[in-house]
Amino acid sequence: MKILLTGGLGFIGSHTAVDLMERGHDVVIADNLSNSKIEVLDKIKQITGKEAKFYQIDICDLDALDKLFEENKDIFGVIHFAGYKAVGESVAKPLMYYENNLISTFNLLKVMQKYNCKNIVFSSSATVYSPKNVMPLTEDADLGASNPYGRTKLFNEHILRDFQFVNPDYDVVLLRYFNPIGAHESGLLGEDPNGIPNNLMPYICKVAVGELDHLNIFGNDYKTKDGTGVRDYIHVVDLARAHSLSIEKIIREGRIGFKVYNLGTGTGYSVLDIVNAFNRVNGDLVKYEIAARRPGDIDECYASPKLAEEELGFKAEKTLDEMCKSSYQYQKNNKK
Ligand code: NAD
Ligand code: UD1
Repeated sequence: MKILLTGGLGFIGSHTAVDLMERGHDVVIADNLSNSKIEVLDKIKQITGKEAKFYQIDICDLDALDKLFEENKDIFGVIHFAGYKAVGESVAKPLMYYENNLISTFNLLKVMQKYNCKNIVFSSSATVYSPKNVMPLTEDADLGASNPYGRTKLFNEHILRDFQFVNPDYDVVLLRYFNPIGAHESGLLGEDPNGIPNNLMPYICKVAVGELDHLNIFGNDYKTKDGTGVRDYIHVVDLARAHSLSIEKIIREGRIGFKVYNLGTGTGYSVLDIVNAFNRVNGDLVKYEIAARRPGDIDECYASPKLAEEELGFKAEKTLDEMCKSSYQYQKNNKK
């Protein structure tokens, strides 16, 4: 089937493009390169031996999106990755986040209706859950985002739910990612944020290759087994597969309606678990110091992955060691 990936040259989108293409689907990518590089397109081709059709467009440009659909009337479904994702930046520039992350969805839904394309998978996040929930998080846990980025995800979820309610012939799948890390085994695709990374694994990788001196561990007095924050890290290659499984469930079942799935492993690892695994697998490369807590961080966050397993047949397979190894491999290949 022909699948449109908005933001398909980004970290998760590029891995999903590979997975879909390896399963025999045709992939069309729309990306404005605001947080990705055109070289990724060639890397996807190197891995799969196939070419994805590429449009360098902004999804907020309704005419450009319309033209894409006009030229690809047979798009079966859309996986909507495109969006800004940095929490700190969203606090500093809320309008930029609301505009990009919401207008893109409005445009997509309008154009999908015009061209009778009835299936959409949306990149949501564990950040939509209220911090007050008990772990593990099930899909019916309380919602409540605490920063503009998180609110764009929550608003998008509401928009898509309301849209599907009055358009029951549409299939809408919300995928709530936990903490995606790791990289493709080829070493060609991975995550390479601009500037100093905010998130743990990209920061660790930059310390490991000598671009940063040491890791600051944000707090060691959380209510966790070793005092450092616990999260549910999932390999991006596993995560990518869950998108293909969502699309294939729609293809197989014909109509699935409105669905929400957590994508995590169900296992929580602490910051120290990650640092220790990384050093064990890659050599003793990462020094750390204990620093103050980062505002807004919570003790623990991990998924109940049961629903995705039961309904999508999705189970994360890759280990923490594989996540650490592949992340470092990619960083070494992309050393500045
Ligand atoms: P990414 O920044 O690597 O990829 C997003 C891509 O979208 C980039 O290639 C960017 O150039 C493109 N883009 C942004 N705005 C666009 C627009 N208006 N028009 C066209 N292209 C546009 O991010 P990612 O890590 O691959 O995340 C993909 C999605 O998953 C995002 O929506 C993100 O919020 C969500 N998500 C990511 C994480 C994570 O930890 N990486 C966790 C939960 C949810
Ligand atoms: C981040 C996002 C969140 C998103 C989630 C999943 C932020 C503030 N939040 O949350 O919106 O849904 O990823 O992708 O970006 N840590 C350190 N030192 C560092 C960096 C992180 O100790 O330099 C710790 C954090 O305190 C946390 C853990 O590492 O305990 C993971 O942090 P991070 O990778 O930023 O992910 P989340 O906080 O889960």
